[in-house]
Amino acid sequence: NKAQAWSARFSEPVSELVKRYTASINFEQRLAPFDIQGSLAHADMLAAIGIISADDNAAIQQGMAQILKEIESNTLAWSIDLEDVHLNIEKRLVELIGDAGKRLHTGRSRNDQVATDIRLWLRHEIDLAIDLLQQLRHKLATLALEHAETILPGFTHLQVAQPVTFGHHLLAYAEMFGRDAERLADCRKRVNRLPLGAAALAGTSYPIDRERVAATLGFDEVCRNSLDAVSDRDFAIEFCASAALIMTHISRLSEELVLWMSPRVGFIDLADRFCTGSSIMPQKKNPDVPELARGKTGRVNGHLIALLTLMKGQPLAYNKDNQEDKEGLFDAADTIRDTLTIFVDMVGGIKVKPEAMRAAALQGFATATDLADYLVKKGIPFRDAHETVAHAVRACEDQGCDLADLSLEQLQAFHPSIEQDVFSVLTLEGSVAARKHIGGTAPERVKIEAQRVLDSGR
Ligand code: ARG
Repeated sequence: NKAQAWSARFSEPVSELVKRYTASINFEQRLAPFDIQGSLAHADMLAAIGIISADDNAAIQQGMAQILKEIESNTLAWSIDLEDVHLNIEKRLVELIGDAGKRLHTGRSRNDQVATDIRLWLRHEIDLAIDLLQQLRHKLATLALEHAETILPGFTHLQVAQPVTFGHHLLAYAEMFGRDAERLADCRKRVNRLPLGAAALAGTSYPIDRERVAATLGFDEVCRNSLDAVSDRDFAIEFCASAALIMTHISRLSEELVLWMSPRVGFIDLADRFCTGSSIMPQKKNPDVPELARGKTGRVNGHLIALLTLMKGQPLAYNKDNQEDKEGLFDAADTIRDTLTIFVDMVGGIKVKPEAMRAAALQGFATATDLADYLVKKGIPFRDAHETVAHAVRACEDQGCDLADLSLEQLQAFHPSIEQDVFSVLTLEGSVAARKHIGGTAPERVKIEAQRVLDSGR
């Protein structure tokens, strides 16, 4: 069993099943460019401190450039006999450049190597995700600006509560995705630290220059403890937690899109390219994309729990358990990347139906609170005002009409302080316009807040 890098110590080869069971090459090929990037920085440092010659370093740089081309053109033959991405690349390097390739692994272990690879890859994914979140916020804010004056019912308990502007509703999601981007940026600080130099677990006896490697690779810091550097995956857990929150916000938005698109509600329409039909019911146009996004939230939540569970029982330092960090982490990153990319496009193409929103806001006594506030401004304590309006709402319900449909005389029967000016607060426009403080739903406030989002960087 000559293939394995460690086989000299063994008297029999592993079975085919064990080989498949322990190999990671089939799911970690995406780490290859980052593995090479890490190796180049390591070789450069080894040459700088005189552990390998400048010629060896040059050969390594040149061999790796060739391997990168082979990877990009899909001509590198990945072998399960070589277990993982690190040994596959190293074997090919030795084939290409001989002994210089064999010197690359000096002062290094696959344990610090893989931790470095994952961090480099994850840093890249985080940057992409932050950019997508900003794009999505911009689309939401653009639509919010267009619909700063469009009124729909705001709900609590899925019952009509108070009128809100659609722009304000959209900007609620811009807030959520803004916090998601902040969370990723914060997670990135802890991702962006260099494990390389920890070697297997205890560091190395070579006089390595870890700060040089960190600088080459763009890491902000060097991991300060070799045992911790090779073994913890808390940075990956943090990423999955951030990804789970992104999907949670996407899922809430999806739920609303599905609801709004239901013919029973009819607030919006989604572009056809995000919907599918039914093989049996010819009339159907189903919002498959938001539904699937809502469903995919479950798998990302699952990856978070899987990683937490993976970590909890592990003694220091590296254990093979950690190889299980990859598939879930990769899938979490893929899922948010695809989902956010689709949502950027989908949100930009939402067709809003303001008449249906308005009609719904006119049902369900959405301005009842405004009437109570009106009475308070006439000197009535809020609790009494609340009760007075509750009586008026019951009367309207019995008569099958809205508060604004009552005559002044009818309203005055509930309270003598009510005057002609009451009708301006009973309108939807009056209700939203009054809420113009920071964080309020008034059109003038929505325009300011939407502009703030649009002015924020991407
Ligand atoms: N494929 C391994 C992983 O993903 C790389 C590190 C292997 N180290 C070891 N001692 N077997 O964690």
